Amino acid sequence: MGGSSLQLLLTFFLFLLCMKPALGNYWGVGNANLNCKERERQTLIKIKEDLIDDHDHLSSWSTEVGREDCCKWRGVHCNNHAGHVTQLNLSISDVEPLRGKLSPFLSELQYLTSLDVSYNDFNHTQIPKSIASLSNLRHLDFSRANFGRNIPFQLGNLSSLQYLDLGWNNFNEPENLEWLRPLSSLSVLCMTSVNLSKVNNWLHVVNQLPYLTVLVLRTCSLPNIFSIPHVNSSNSLDVLNLSDNNLTSSSSVLEWLFNSNTSVVGLGLSHNQFQGLIPDAFSKIHSLELLILNDNEFEGGIPKSFSGMCNLKILSLSNNNLSELLLGIVHNLTGSANHSIEELYLHNNHIMGSFPDLTAFSSLRVLFLSANRLSGTIPESLGKQSNLERLYVGGNPFEGVISEAHFSKLTKLKVFHIYNNSLVFNFSSNWVPPFQLEQLYFVSCQLGFGLPKWLQTQKSYYWLDLSNSTILDTLSNSYWIFPNQKFYMNLSDNQISGHIPNLSLESSFGSIIDLSSNELEGEIPSFVFRGVHLDLSKNMLSKLAFSLCAANNNSLRFLDLSNNRLSGELPDCWMHFEGLKILKLENNNFHGKIPSSVGSLIEIETLDLGNNNFSGELPSFLKNCSKLIFLNLRNNSFSGLIPMWLGRSHPNLVDLILRSNHFYGRMPPHLCHLTYLQILDLALNKITGSIPKCLNNLISLMDKKNPSVAISHSYEVLSLSYVDHTIWMWKGREYEYRNNHVLVKSIDLSSNKLNGVIPKEIGVLDGLISLNLSNNLLTGKITSDIGLLYSLEVLDLSDNKLCGEIPSTLALIDRLNFLNLRNNNLSGRIPIGPQFNTFIASAYEGNPNLCGFPLPKNCLGEETPQNPTVNRSNGDISMQGEEDGFITLGFYVSATIGFVASFWGVCGTLLLNWSWQLSNFKFLNNIRD
Ligand SMILES: *[C@@H]1O[C@H](CO)[C@@H](O)[C@H](O)[C@H]1NC(C)=O
Ligand SMILES: *[C@@H]1O[C@H](CO)[C@@H](O)[C@H](O)[C@H]1NC(C)=O
Ligand SMILES: *[C@@H]1O[C@H](CO)[C@@H](O)[C@H](O)[C@H]1NC(C)=O
Ligand SMILES: *[C@@H]1O[C@H](CO)[C@@H](O)[C@H](O)[C@H]1NC(C)=O
Ligand SMILES: *[C@@H]1O[C@H](CO)[C@@H](O)[C@H](O)[C@H]1NC(C)=O
Ligand SMILES: *[C@@H]1O[C@H](CO)[C@@H](O)[C@H](O)[C@H]1NC(C)=O
Repeated sequence: MGGSSLQLLLTFFLFLLCMKPALGNYWGVGNANLNCKERERQTLIKIKEDLIDDHDHLSSWSTEVGREDCCKWRGVHCNNHAGHVTQLNLSISDVEPLRGKLSPFLSELQYLTSLDVSYNDFNHTQIPKSIASLSNLRHLDFSRANFGRNIPFQLGNLSSLQYLDLGWNNFNEPENLEWLRPLSSLSVLCMTSVNLSKVNNWLHVVNQLPYLTVLVLRTCSLPNIFSIPHVNSSNSLDVLNLSDNNLTSSSSVLEWLFNSNTSVVGLGLSHNQFQGLIPDAFSKIHSLELLILNDNEFEGGIPKSFSGMCNLKILSLSNNNLSELLLGIVHNLTGSANHSIEELYLHNNHIMGSFPDLTAFSSLRVLFLSANRLSGTIPESLGKQSNLERLYVGGNPFEGVISEAHFSKLTKLKVFHIYNNSLVFNFSSNWVPPFQLEQLYFVSCQLGFGLPKWLQTQKSYYWLDLSNSTILDTLSNSYWIFPNQKFYMNLSDNQISGHIPNLSLESSFGSIIDLSSNELEGEIPSFVFRGVHLDLSKNMLSKLAFSLCAANNNSLRFLDLSNNRLSGELPDCWMHFEGLKILKLENNNFHGKIPSSVGSLIEIETLDLGNNNFSGELPSFLKNCSKLIFLNLRNNSFSGLIPMWLGRSHPNLVDLILRSNHFYGRMPPHLCHLTYLQILDLALNKITGSIPKCLNNLISLMDKKNPSVAISHSYEVLSLSYVDHTIWMWKGREYEYRNNHVLVKSIDLSSNKLNGVIPKEIGVLDGLISLNLSNNLLTGKITSDIGLLYSLEVLDLSDNKLCGEIPSTLALIDRLNFLNLRNNNLSGRIPIGPQFNTFIASAYEGNPNLCGFPLPKNCLGEETPQNPTVNRSNGDISMQGEEDGFITLGFYVSATIGFVASFWGVCGTLLLNWSWQLSNFKFLNNIRD
């Protein structure tokens, strides 16, 4: 958190430096008495012809009578005496770019001193080489213009150039930067995101630009340099930003800097790979005001010499491996630096010890100490830091009491951020804090009872996160908790009861509201539907219809009302919510048909109606919802045929779950067109006919390497994203996981009336992890191609009419952990193989003609089988004797490891689920289909 917001700050700072040269901002103000030169007007018209001006920015560029003075055109500036065009600014809007290409005729504007074409979209075209003849150019801004190809080396002819920004384009990797050498007047050079990995002498080149004051080579893949260029005495740099490269401590960059008698003011070295102790030598640079070292691998503490850095205002060391006592760090900064430091970022290190008295840091405005190993109490002296505006102390195991004294003089505090600790918050009920907060973040804290009443005195907050903080209160009369402006509010995971107060419709416009996992009841008021993101899941809410339809909000993107007590028919006013991407209504008591306005949800990607009592056929207006990725209708009373259009109209479907309804008829072959499909669950319906051979078109199930389409939806609100939960059935029990990367790719057609043979085409789906065809009327032999499904972990073909031998190819699937072939007509010898040796007899019961291990029955001409437990010693605990004997602990163990390996860091939920299962396997075993 600290790193990123600091990164932002620094970016902004450097951005200003790069964007606002000392030229003043007198663009476009033509001189009233002048007429522009005919030739230059013609040139401008030619330039316009190459541009695509979707937003009519250049409407003033016109040859109509009365408008021909091009000095008055937008973005054009002429010099006073001669009326020549000297400045051209085509950087008009950062959201509505000009498109097309930059005309080579530009070179005819010979008097041009300044050209700004940033924030446009030149579609990877090249910067015109002819620009090299504009010998008067001093200021050149090509940044964020989507230029491509090579940077023309002819730029080196522009010997008057003082300012050059080439950042954020799509240039090819330059072979060298030799063309920069002649630019001896250059003062500002920004090349952010230009890949300089081949330019091994970049430092030598920039070192020779005598007047360079600002150098930004951020995200340039700069190669490490192991020889210091000759240092002439001093460089003139004020700002040096080399962040986000792969520079290491063994590179000579630091040595160069420390030896060059620099007077740099802002130094950005974040997101590199600097290691070891922080070099003392930074402190020799007395001019330093900003030292940005976050996201490296620095260890230890802060050198004592830093105490002498009397100009240091901002020090960022977040996301490193610092490990000393905070008291020592504070001590090492005390001298001069403590008086000047305004912002101190130490977030996410391993800093230890207690929270020291910081009153000697009298200028401190921003303090980030979160995610360290600080412990003990927070001293009341904190309340004396009267300049403090933003305080982040969460994620440390602090103890003790936080009281009003901790805030006594914090009149400027705007942001307070604390989480995960056992501090006791003790404020009197009529406390009037000295501050007006903008952001309050008390997450997973012990707030004790009640919503903090002192919030009523806060008039300017817009960010309130009190989630999981043991709040036991009613919301019914707490309307005051809702801010008066667009807000972010998260009160989830508490014990807040009562009903949501009814506020005016506009009060939540554009907001993000999460009140999930509480005990709210009653009607949902209209105003909450005016936000962009609304999560009311896991409450006891019971009324929806009227309030939903009274709201009208195309900007709502996310609506989760799942796990409530909503009942009745679904209201028919979804046309007011056309922007909805995620709609989750599962686990309620809705009944009736899907109303037709659901067909207006043309942006919808996730529609989850599972576990309700919806009925009727799948309505054809669902065809309009063509962006669907996740469709769950499980456990309802839908009936009729599975419509033909389902495969054709929803080409992006990844999860299709129609489980446990009353669908009948054949599986439409169009389902095979769903090339992104990963979960196909049609179990527990009345589907007849045979399994379509075209299943081999399910490309996504064919690819076990490709991580597949992640079902992660992002939407433009605060870059929120949402990851679908998917439910996987395993022996009649549901397991929830967040479907992020490759997860279970599965086909479940069990408990239908499918007949015919298992098509051999199924053998191409080698990404498949689980295949369940049990409880159907399938006949014939098990195709030997099934052995090609080498990702398979679960195979259930039980309760069919399959006959013949078990194909020996099955023994080749070395991940197979679970096999169920019970109640068929299989015969002959059970295959032998490492996995097969782990399955126990009940996997085969109800097939009287099978023989061989692990059955007691010998095949003809064989000796008595070996002791059946022989191969099951390494960690596999046989569940034999339990009611459902063939699940082995081995399955869980290996499934756990397999899944955890691929999901760790992505979804802790799953890990929890699986380890939970591990300790509850006995309980699980008792649950049957
Ligand atoms: C060009 O105009 C934009 C506003 O449209 C302004 O932000 C930018 O600073 C101008 N460029 C220069 C070089 O002054
Ligand atoms: C961008 O350029 C490509 C060719 O390089 C062209 O196919 C495409 O249509 C151009 N796009 C626009 C929006 O001009
Ligand atoms: C660049 O300058 C060289 C001489 O230094 C000259 O020969 C060449 O023509 C110039 N290029 C352009 C495109 O003006
Ligand atoms: C840094 O190096 C790693 C490999 O060591 C590479 O994957 C990464 O892309 C590099 N980053 C940059 C910004 O060059
Ligand atoms: C304080 O500075 C000394 C000398 O630079 C250093 O050895 C020590 O590790 C520093 N201590 C802390 C806690 O930063
Ligand atoms: C809620 O807070 C408790 C400690 O108070 C913590 O153990 C738990 O992990 C937190 N839950 C979530 C979902 O953050």
